[in-house]
Amino acid sequence: MSAKLRLAINGYGRIGRCFLRALYESSACEQFEIVAINEPADLDSMAYLTRFDSTHGVFPGEVDQGKQTLIINGHSIKVTHAEKPESVDWGAYNLDVLVECSGRYSSRSELMRFIQAGCPRLLLSQPADGAAEVDQTIVYGINEHVLKGDEVLVSNASCTTNAIVPVLAALNRAFSLEHAFLTTLHSVMNDQPLIDGYHRSDLRRTRSAMQSIVPVSTGLAKGVERLLPELAGKVVAKAIRVPTLNVSAIDLMVTTKQVVSVEAINTQMQALAHNAKRLVAYSSHPHASVDFNHNPHSAIIDGSQTRVNGENFVNLLVWFDNEWGFANRLLDTLGYWATHLNLSSPVQFKQPA
Ligand SMILES: NC(=O)c1ccc[n+]([C@@H]2O[C@H](COP(=O)([O-])OP(=O)(O)OC[C@H]3O[C@@H](n4cnc5c(N)ncnc54)[C@H](OP(=O)(O)O)[C@@H]3O)[C@@H](O)[C@H]2O)c1
Repeated sequence: MSAKLRLAINGYGRIGRCFLRALYESSACEQFEIVAINEPADLDSMAYLTRFDSTHGVFPGEVDQGKQTLIINGHSIKVTHAEKPESVDWGAYNLDVLVECSGRYSSRSELMRFIQAGCPRLLLSQPADGAAEVDQTIVYGINEHVLKGDEVLVSNASCTTNAIVPVLAALNRAFSLEHAFLTTLHSVMNDQPLIDGYHRSDLRRTRSAMQSIVPVSTGLAKGVERLLPELAGKVVAKAIRVPTLNVSAIDLMVTTKQVVSVEAINTQMQALAHNAKRLVAYSSHPHASVDFNHNPHSAIIDGSQTRVNGENFVNLLVWFDNEWGFANRLLDTLGYWATHLNLSSPVQFKQPA
């Protein structure tokens, strides 16, 4: 049996925990092992929130605790509680990849602190401040093939970018887009307070997450253009947080150079879902967002909501589980990257079918 790739997680919040759980809920645990987690919270809370999850339900495995270890299905994971990258002896874990899920590090100089502290390479659970701050930004299914194995800092983009880029790419191929306007309706996140409270930089994010629909800033348009340079200058985006726990939607408006119809758009979207089965799904059932909780796709296109105004003004609705879909894409990107890494001991990885 070949060696497993050794992973660590920095920041064990929503995405860190979903990443661990996605690994244990899939065959990926035959390929990867998590050997360390760094998270400021105490071990009791980490074990408790691994076991019980209001969004994804009870963990479908065994969760135990040892001395500074979290034990998942009998595997021991070393736990530290440092706030700074250099406060952890990462070198001692003989890591292959650190999955950075704290959301606190987005510039090259900040991310390189982990490398200087003994991590060989990082996969980031958010977009970096700019394209040049990381070696590659990946949306799995679109550009993972650019990974050659010599990268040190790789970003997995955002959940919203993973959801919309495959859809925009397919629409542009089929109908040539003139303009795209994206409105993300995103579930609440832990950077919002339950009741009004201070926020370091955003007045609107001081407001109770469960009481209001809250517009927030977004770098989505830049993120899309980073992945689809052929759409540079054509994309505008805004983001609105809505008081649901999980599952988000993108209200997408595009104008096309070609004359289109609802049927023509939906035929292309069904073809996309057929060709990218694990990543994109198509639905025409009368669903509400909660129906897509724990859905591993990057995007689910709701064909029942497709509208066309005139000959070329199109409106689509795209659902995505912002936590679970994204956590599964982190695994996919890792799987592809791993096949190209130059590791001291050869590792044989299966790519997902
Ligand atoms: N949630 C989503 O839907 C989603 C989807 C895709 C990508 N992302 C991205 O993933 C990142 C994490 O998001 P999240 O929703 O998982 O946030 P979260 O639930 O707040 O989790 C972040 C965790 O990291 C911890 N942390 C803070 N500073 C740290 C440090 N210096 N070192 C180690 N851990 C630290 C936090 O502890 P404290 O609470 O004590 O600060 C928290 O437990 C963000 O960049 C986000 O944009 C989120």
